[in-house]
Amino acid sequence: MKILNNIETTKQEVEIIKKNNQTIALVPTMGYLHEGHKSLIKEAKKIGDIVVISIFVNPLQFGENEDLDKYPKDFERDKNIAFELGVDYIFYPEEEEMYNNFKTFVEVRDLSQKMCGKTRPIHFTGVATVVLKLFNIIKPDYAVFGMKDAQQVRIIEKMVYDLNIDVEIIRGEIIRESDGLAYSSRNKYLSQNERKDAIALKEGLNYGKSLIQNGEKDVEKIKKSIIDFILEKFSIKSIDYISIVNFETLEEEDFVYTEVLLAGAIYIGTTRLIDNLLIKI
Ligand code: PAJ
Repeated sequence: MKILNNIETTKQEVEIIKKNNQTIALVPTMGYLHEGHKSLIKEAKKIGDIVVISIFVNPLQFGENEDLDKYPKDFERDKNIAFELGVDYIFYPEEEEMYNNFKTFVEVRDLSQKMCGKTRPIHFTGVATVVLKLFNIIKPDYAVFGMKDAQQVRIIEKMVYDLNIDVEIIRGEIIRESDGLAYSSRNKYLSQNERKDAIALKEGLNYGKSLIQNGEKDVEKIKKSIIDFILEKFSIKSIDYISIVNFETLEEEDFVYTEVLLAGAIYIGTTRLIDNLLIKI
Protein backbone atom coordinates (compact mmCIF):
# COMPACT_ATOMS: atom_id res chain seq x y z
CA MET A 1 0.00 0.00 0.00
CA LYS A 2 1.38 3.40 -0.99
CA ILE A 3 0.68 6.74 0.69
CA LEU A 4 0.51 9.65 -1.76
CA ASN A 5 0.74 13.24 -0.48
CA ASN A 6 1.52 14.96 -3.70
CA ILE A 7 -0.84 15.64 -6.62
CA GLU A 8 1.77 15.29 -9.39
CA THR A 9 3.10 11.99 -8.04
CA THR A 10 -0.45 10.72 -7.73
CA LYS A 11 -1.18 11.63 -11.36
CA GLN A 12 1.95 9.72 -12.45
CA GLU A 13 0.85 6.62 -10.50
CA VAL A 14 -2.61 6.91 -12.04
CA GLU A 15 -1.10 7.09 -15.52
CA ILE A 16 0.77 3.81 -14.94
CA ILE A 17 -2.41 2.11 -13.67
CA LYS A 18 -4.31 3.30 -16.76
CA LYS A 19 -1.51 2.10 -19.07
CA ASN A 20 -1.85 -1.35 -17.48
CA ASN A 21 -5.56 -1.25 -18.35
CA GLN A 22 -6.54 -1.54 -14.70
CA THR A 23 -9.69 0.10 -13.36
CA ILE A 24 -9.67 2.39 -10.33
CA ALA A 25 -12.32 2.46 -7.59
CA LEU A 26 -12.12 5.50 -5.32
CA VAL A 27 -13.55 5.91 -1.82
CA PRO A 28 -13.34 9.57 -0.74
CA THR A 29 -13.24 10.03 3.06
CA MET A 30 -12.28 12.52 5.74
CA GLY A 31 -10.58 9.72 7.71
CA TYR A 32 -11.15 8.42 11.24
CA LEU A 33 -12.36 5.29 9.51
CA HIS A 34 -15.28 3.27 10.92
CA GLU A 35 -17.49 0.38 9.80
CA GLY A 36 -19.35 2.61 7.31
CA HIS A 37 -16.12 3.54 5.53
CA LYS A 38 -14.95 -0.09 5.70
CA SER A 39 -18.03 -1.32 3.94
CA LEU A 40 -17.48 1.20 1.11
CA ILE A 41 -13.87 0.03 0.78
CA LYS A 42 -15.03 -3.61 0.59
CA GLU A 43 -17.50 -2.58 -2.12
CA ALA A 44 -14.68 -0.82 -4.00
CA LYS A 45 -12.52 -3.97 -3.77
CA LYS A 46 -15.28 -5.92 -5.51
CA ILE A 47 -15.57 -3.57 -8.49
CA GLY A 48 -12.13 -2.05 -9.17
CA ASP A 49 -8.73 -3.59 -9.92
CA ILE A 50 -7.06 -0.87 -7.87
CA VAL A 51 -8.61 0.70 -4.77
CA VAL A 52 -7.70 4.24 -3.81
CA ILE A 53 -9.05 5.93 -0.70
CA SER A 54 -8.60 9.60 0.00
CA ILE A 55 -8.24 10.96 3.51
CA PHE A 56 -8.65 14.73 3.61
CA VAL A 57 -10.57 16.82 6.11
CA ASN A 58 -11.81 19.29 3.56
CA PRO A 59 -11.93 22.80 5.06
CA LEU A 60 -14.13 24.10 2.21
CA GLN A 61 -17.13 22.09 3.42
CA PHE A 62 -17.10 23.37 7.02
CA GLY A 63 -18.95 26.53 8.03
CA GLU A 64 -17.30 29.11 10.26
CA ASN A 65 -18.81 27.84 13.51
CA GLU A 66 -18.54 24.16 12.68
CA ASP A 67 -16.19 21.43 13.90
CA LEU A 68 -13.26 21.69 11.45
CA ASP A 69 -10.75 22.26 14.27
CA LYS A 70 -11.91 19.37 16.41
CA TYR A 71 -12.74 16.89 13.63
CA PRO A 72 -11.26 13.55 14.83
CA LYS A 73 -8.07 12.31 13.18
CA ASP A 74 -5.95 9.17 13.59
CA PHE A 75 -3.91 8.53 10.49
CA GLU A 76 -1.90 5.61 11.94
CA ARG A 77 -5.09 3.75 12.78
CA ASP A 78 -6.64 4.60 9.40
CA LYS A 79 -3.51 3.36 7.64
CA ASN A 80 -3.70 -0.02 9.42
CA ILE A 81 -7.40 -0.41 8.62
CA ALA A 82 -6.80 0.46 4.97
CA PHE A 83 -3.87 -1.97 4.76
CA GLU A 84 -5.90 -4.81 6.30
CA LEU A 85 -8.70 -4.22 3.79
CA GLY A 86 -6.29 -4.41 0.86
CA VAL A 87 -6.37 -0.75 -0.17
CA ASP A 88 -3.70 -0.06 -2.81
CA TYR A 89 -3.23 3.69 -2.33
CA ILE A 90 -4.14 6.33 0.25
CA PHE A 91 -4.26 9.84 -1.19
CA TYR A 92 -3.48 11.94 1.88
CA PRO A 93 -2.68 15.52 0.88
CA GLU A 94 -2.00 18.53 3.08
CA GLU A 95 -4.38 21.47 2.81
CA GLU A 96 -1.76 23.59 0.95
CA GLU A 97 -1.39 20.86 -1.66
CA MET A 98 -5.13 20.93 -2.39
CA TYR A 99 -5.90 24.62 -1.99
CA ASN A 100 -3.05 26.85 -3.03
CA ASN A 101 -4.43 30.36 -3.66
CA PHE A 102 -7.71 28.66 -4.54
CA LYS A 103 -10.54 30.57 -6.29
CA THR A 104 -12.79 28.04 -8.05
CA PHE A 105 -15.99 26.48 -6.68
CA VAL A 106 -18.48 23.95 -8.02
CA GLU A 107 -22.06 24.74 -7.11
CA VAL A 108 -24.82 22.22 -7.74
CA ARG A 109 -27.79 24.56 -7.50
CA ASP A 110 -31.12 23.75 -5.83
CA LEU A 111 -30.05 20.32 -4.55
CA SER A 112 -27.38 21.98 -2.39
CA GLN A 113 -29.72 24.51 -0.81
CA LYS A 114 -32.31 22.06 0.52
CA MET A 115 -32.35 19.94 3.67
CA CYS A 116 -28.84 20.05 5.22
CA GLY A 117 -28.04 22.98 2.89
CA LYS A 118 -30.43 25.25 4.80
CA THR A 119 -28.31 25.23 7.97
CA ARG A 120 -25.05 24.50 6.14
CA PRO A 121 -25.25 26.87 3.14
CA ILE A 122 -21.68 26.41 1.85
CA HIS A 123 -21.31 22.73 2.75
CA PHE A 124 -22.24 21.03 -0.51
CA THR A 125 -20.31 23.52 -2.65
CA GLY A 126 -17.26 22.54 -0.60
CA VAL A 127 -18.08 18.85 -1.07
CA ALA A 128 -18.68 19.10 -4.84
CA THR A 129 -15.49 21.13 -5.31
CA VAL A 130 -13.24 18.70 -3.45
CA VAL A 131 -14.85 15.65 -5.05
CA LEU A 132 -14.36 17.08 -8.55
CA LYS A 133 -10.70 17.75 -7.66
CA LEU A 134 -10.34 14.16 -6.43
CA PHE A 135 -11.93 12.87 -9.64
CA ASN A 136 -9.53 14.96 -11.74
CA ILE A 137 -6.47 13.83 -9.79
CA ILE A 138 -7.33 10.13 -9.38
CA LYS A 139 -9.47 9.62 -12.53
CA PRO A 140 -11.48 6.77 -10.99
CA ASP A 141 -13.69 4.50 -13.09
CA TYR A 142 -15.89 4.01 -10.01
CA ALA A 143 -16.42 6.11 -6.91
CA VAL A 144 -18.26 4.72 -3.89
CA PHE A 145 -20.35 7.00 -1.66
CA GLY A 146 -22.42 6.00 1.37
CA MET A 147 -26.17 6.51 1.51
CA LYS A 148 -25.64 7.75 5.08
CA ASP A 149 -25.17 11.08 3.30
CA ALA A 150 -28.01 10.63 0.81
CA GLN A 151 -28.14 14.30 -0.21
CA GLN A 152 -24.40 14.23 -0.88
CA VAL A 153 -24.88 11.16 -3.11
CA ARG A 154 -27.55 12.93 -5.20
CA ILE A 155 -25.44 16.08 -5.49
CA ILE A 156 -22.39 14.14 -6.67
CA GLU A 157 -24.53 12.15 -9.13
CA LYS A 158 -25.96 15.39 -10.51
CA MET A 159 -22.52 16.97 -10.83
CA VAL A 160 -21.25 13.89 -12.68
CA TYR A 161 -24.23 14.02 -15.05
CA ASP A 162 -24.15 17.79 -15.62
CA LEU A 163 -20.39 18.01 -16.17
CA ASN A 164 -20.12 14.76 -18.20
CA ILE A 165 -17.57 13.22 -15.85
CA ASP A 166 -16.49 9.68 -16.79
CA VAL A 167 -17.06 7.97 -13.47
CA GLU A 168 -19.72 5.58 -12.24
CA ILE A 169 -21.11 6.49 -8.83
CA ILE A 170 -21.85 3.48 -6.61
CA ARG A 171 -24.26 3.90 -3.69
CA GLY A 172 -23.14 2.05 -0.56
CA GLU A 173 -25.74 1.04 2.03
CA ILE A 174 -25.86 2.66 5.50
CA ILE A 175 -23.98 0.66 8.15
CA ARG A 176 -25.39 0.89 11.67
CA GLU A 177 -24.41 -0.06 15.20
CA SER A 178 -26.43 -2.81 16.92
CA ASP A 179 -29.02 -0.33 18.28
CA GLY A 180 -29.52 1.24 14.87
CA LEU A 181 -27.32 4.34 15.17
CA ALA A 182 -25.54 4.95 11.87
CA TYR A 183 -21.76 4.91 12.21
CA SER A 184 -20.31 8.41 11.93
CA SER A 185 -16.96 9.95 12.81
CA ARG A 186 -18.97 12.55 14.74
CA ASN A 187 -20.42 9.90 17.13
CA LYS A 188 -17.10 10.29 18.96
CA TYR A 189 -18.30 13.68 20.24
CA LEU A 190 -21.22 12.10 22.17
CA SER A 191 -21.07 11.64 25.96
CA GLN A 192 -22.43 8.38 27.41
CA ASN A 193 -25.77 9.99 28.18
CA GLU A 194 -26.01 11.67 24.79
CA ARG A 195 -25.23 8.35 23.09
CA LYS A 196 -28.52 6.97 24.48
CA ASP A 197 -30.50 9.73 22.79
CA ALA A 198 -28.55 9.51 19.55
CA ILE A 199 -30.91 6.84 18.20
CA ALA A 200 -33.82 9.31 18.39
CA LEU A 201 -33.61 10.27 14.73
CA LYS A 202 -33.39 6.71 13.47
CA GLU A 203 -36.32 5.71 15.71
CA GLY A 204 -38.32 8.71 14.50
CA LEU A 205 -37.66 7.87 10.86
CA ASN A 206 -38.63 4.24 11.51
CA TYR A 207 -41.87 5.49 13.03
CA GLY A 208 -42.50 7.59 9.91
CA LYS A 209 -41.82 4.53 7.77
CA SER A 210 -44.40 2.51 9.72
CA LEU A 211 -47.01 5.26 9.17
CA ILE A 212 -46.31 5.20 5.42
CA GLN A 213 -46.50 1.41 5.33
CA ASN A 214 -49.86 1.64 7.08
CA GLY A 215 -51.14 3.84 4.27
CA GLU A 216 -50.53 7.39 5.48
CA LYS A 217 -49.68 9.57 2.47
CA ASP A 218 -49.88 13.14 3.77
CA VAL A 219 -46.30 14.42 3.99
CA GLU A 220 -46.99 17.26 6.45
CA LYS A 221 -48.86 14.86 8.79
CA ILE A 222 -46.07 12.27 8.67
CA LYS A 223 -43.40 14.91 9.33
CA LYS A 224 -45.31 16.30 12.30
CA SER A 225 -45.82 12.80 13.73
CA ILE A 226 -42.07 12.06 13.45
CA ILE A 227 -41.19 15.32 15.22
CA ASP A 228 -43.74 14.71 18.00
CA PHE A 229 -42.48 11.14 18.40
CA ILE A 230 -38.86 12.28 18.81
CA LEU A 231 -39.67 15.11 21.22
CA GLU A 232 -41.91 12.87 23.36
CA LYS A 233 -39.65 9.83 23.61
CA PHE A 234 -36.21 11.43 23.87
CA SER A 235 -34.71 14.42 25.63
CA ILE A 236 -33.88 16.14 22.38
CA LYS A 237 -33.94 19.92 22.42
CA SER A 238 -33.36 20.71 18.79
CA ILE A 239 -34.46 19.11 15.57
CA ASP A 240 -32.80 20.81 12.61
CA TYR A 241 -35.19 19.37 10.03
CA ILE A 242 -37.25 16.37 9.00
CA SER A 243 -37.87 16.09 5.25
CA ILE A 244 -39.78 13.66 3.09
CA VAL A 245 -38.60 14.14 -0.48
CA ASN A 246 -38.43 12.67 -3.94
CA PHE A 247 -34.90 11.21 -3.99
CA GLU A 248 -34.28 12.28 -7.61
CA THR A 249 -35.02 15.96 -7.12
CA LEU A 250 -34.89 16.28 -3.32
CA GLU A 251 -38.16 18.22 -3.72
CA GLU A 252 -40.83 17.87 -1.08
CA GLU A 253 -44.20 16.86 -2.51
CA ASP A 254 -47.57 16.99 -0.73
CA PHE A 255 -48.18 13.26 -0.84
CA VAL A 256 -46.06 10.13 -0.73
CA TYR A 257 -46.33 8.08 -3.93
CA THR A 258 -43.56 5.71 -4.97
CA GLU A 259 -40.01 6.11 -3.71
CA VAL A 260 -39.37 8.65 -0.96
CA LEU A 261 -36.40 9.65 1.14
CA LEU A 262 -37.15 10.25 4.80
CA ALA A 263 -34.26 12.33 6.08
CA GLY A 264 -33.41 14.51 9.01
CA ALA A 265 -30.85 16.16 11.22
CA ILE A 266 -30.97 16.60 15.00
CA TYR A 267 -28.71 18.10 17.60
CA ILE A 268 -27.63 15.93 20.52
CA GLY A 269 -26.09 18.59 22.74
CA THR A 270 -23.88 20.43 20.30
CA THR A 271 -23.37 17.44 18.01
CA ARG A 272 -25.34 17.48 14.77
CA LEU A 273 -26.31 14.01 13.54
CA ILE A 274 -28.00 13.10 10.26
CA ASP A 275 -29.77 9.97 9.08
CA ASN A 276 -32.23 8.82 6.44
CA LEU A 277 -34.29 5.94 5.12
CA LEU A 278 -35.06 5.37 1.46
CA ILE A 279 -38.51 3.82 1.19
CA LYS A 280 -40.01 2.09 -1.81
CA ILE A 281 -43.78 1.79 -1.64
P1 PAJ B 1 -16.88 11.12 5.50
O1 PAJ B 1 -17.86 11.68 6.43
O2 PAJ B 1 -15.56 10.65 6.02
O3 PAJ B 1 -17.56 9.93 4.74
C1 PAJ B 1 -16.89 9.25 3.72
C2 PAJ B 1 -17.88 8.32 3.06
O4 PAJ B 1 -18.33 7.36 4.01
C3 PAJ B 1 -19.13 9.05 2.53
O5 PAJ B 1 -19.48 8.53 1.26
C4 PAJ B 1 -20.17 8.72 3.59
O6 PAJ B 1 -21.49 8.73 3.09
C5 PAJ B 1 -19.74 7.32 3.97
N1 PAJ B 1 -20.29 6.92 5.28
C6 PAJ B 1 -20.20 7.58 6.45
N2 PAJ B 1 -20.89 6.92 7.43
C7 PAJ B 1 -21.42 5.83 6.84
C8 PAJ B 1 -22.24 4.75 7.31
N3 PAJ B 1 -22.64 4.66 8.58
N4 PAJ B 1 -22.61 3.80 6.42
C9 PAJ B 1 -22.20 3.87 5.12
N5 PAJ B 1 -21.43 4.85 4.62
C10 PAJ B 1 -21.04 5.82 5.47
O7 PAJ B 1 -18.59 12.30 3.33
C11 PAJ B 1 -17.47 12.75 3.49
O8 PAJ B 1 -16.53 12.20 4.33
C12 PAJ B 1 -16.98 13.98 2.73
O9 PAJ B 1 -18.06 14.84 2.50
C13 PAJ B 1 -16.28 13.63 1.40
C14 PAJ B 1 -17.20 12.94 0.41
C15 PAJ B 1 -15.03 12.76 1.66
C16 PAJ B 1 -15.80 14.95 0.72
O10 PAJ B 1 -14.94 15.65 1.56
